[in-house]
Amino acid sequence: MTYSEAGALLARHGQEHVLASWDTLTRDAQAALLKQIDSLDFTTLAAMKAILAQPPAAPSDPEPGAALSPAPAERRAAAEHGAAALRQGKVGVILVAGGQGTRLGFDGPKGTYAIGPLSRASLFEIHARKIAALERRFGADVPFYIMTSEINDAATRAFFHDHGNFGLSAARVKFFIQGMLPALFPDGRLVMETAGRLFMGPDGHGGILQALQRTGMLQDMRQRGLDTLFYFQVDNPLVEIADPAFLGLHRDRQAQFSLKVCAKRDPAEGLGVIARRGTSGLAIVEYTELTPEQKAARTPGGDLQFKFGSVAIHIFSLDFLTATAKAGLPLHTAHKKVPCFDGGRIIAPDKPNVFKFEKFIFDALPLAERALALEFDRAEEFSPVKNATGSDSPDTTRRDISRKFARWLDAGGIRVPRNEAGDPAFFIEIDPRYASCPEDLKRRLPKGFAVTGDTWLR
Ligand code: UD1
Repeated sequence: MTYSEAGALLARHGQEHVLASWDTLTRDAQAALLKQIDSLDFTTLAAMKAILAQPPAAPSDPEPGAALSPAPAERRAAAEHGAAALRQGKVGVILVAGGQGTRLGFDGPKGTYAIGPLSRASLFEIHARKIAALERRFGADVPFYIMTSEINDAATRAFFHDHGNFGLSAARVKFFIQGMLPALFPDGRLVMETAGRLFMGPDGHGGILQALQRTGMLQDMRQRGLDTLFYFQVDNPLVEIADPAFLGLHRDRQAQFSLKVCAKRDPAEGLGVIARRGTSGLAIVEYTELTPEQKAARTPGGDLQFKFGSVAIHIFSLDFLTATAKAGLPLHTAHKKVPCFDGGRIIAPDKPNVFKFEKFIFDALPLAERALALEFDRAEEFSPVKNATGSDSPDTTRRDISRKFARWLDAGGIRVPRNEAGDPAFFIEIDPRYASCPEDLKRRLPKGFAVTGDTWLR
């Protein structure tokens, strides 16, 4: 693309300001800017501008959705079926890790954050070890697909490389990059990061649908004989990756999109809630898109009306991912404070000044004809690292890791000393390869084992 072609294109879309500092740029910067302009999708840009002019109608009065809580016998049978699928090598794992983790205030890919209370293992390491444990337990390959973004792709790959892929075969750890979207000022103008560069941000985890296809990952999955993909977020070290009972229920019911849901801790908790919509009768409404009244509404019985939160633990059929790869998921806006270049100078805003746009994977839920929402026990499987301090912070996650493993030891007949609050008096950590469930742990513990201090079983 030449300078004059770029100028004409931008003028047609009311974006002339992008080239305003052209003469001040080096040749390299000019070439890079032309490349950025060339890569812009002006159809999407028009849609973004239209959203700012008139926000899409909010999912106005969503009805709360229901969740499944199978009886123990059904759960056990499902676990057998899920285990069989794992043994047959039909299951792959997808991790979305392209986000910026701004709230945690940690510099670098969030997955590199050292969360293990005693091991200081990173989030990535904990996830990877669980997959290694699955491969060993079921005697089959469990390919691991990791979505990154331009912001953290190189650092993420380097981290895995430097740690020998945490024991996983490099052939089965596949990285792929999601797309990027520009940001807009409220008046619809493109935001510039510097005089010669457009501001671009990851396109949200909903970008995964296109990214899986564009990067050849769907084909890779098919070639490996996979038909079921377990999906999770990087920030939750308690996740039971490829939980056999969840897999079994998903497969037994021939679901296309399944999700785990739990009762929200309180009305304000930042979880998307399940609601009724679409052909499957299920949808998720993001917490930012419910009014305070909707969040706080209660049933006559006293439960929250929107009781069930989605913790972004999903299962997809490969056929569904393939069929929806081209689905245009809606764009959501977030009003953010973004330092940028405007009017010939760098601006450091003190209040939100630009709109960022993202797609959410759960907007594909209403496209599924068969979907399943499974209730689970959050104490066992969900304790995300979101904030630097307070709730959902490294401190609460490390505490929840110790609590979980103390319960495993309890189940094995080992007494774990507790403090006055009823919490384990010591940090307890169990490497997934040492034991991946309470039964496993019971088998492995040496005779006469006792907890007398911080305990790291590995
Ligand atoms: C998210 C969910 C929310 C859910 C909660 C559970 C969204 C919009 N909301 O909230 O419904 O109840 O988690 O913990 O996701 N990511 C990418 N690319 C992106 C953006 C995000 O890969 O462009 C990844 C992140 O790396 C992370 C995950 O998606 O693994 C979630 O992103 P985050 O921004 O932390 O979502 P939350 O607001 O916490």
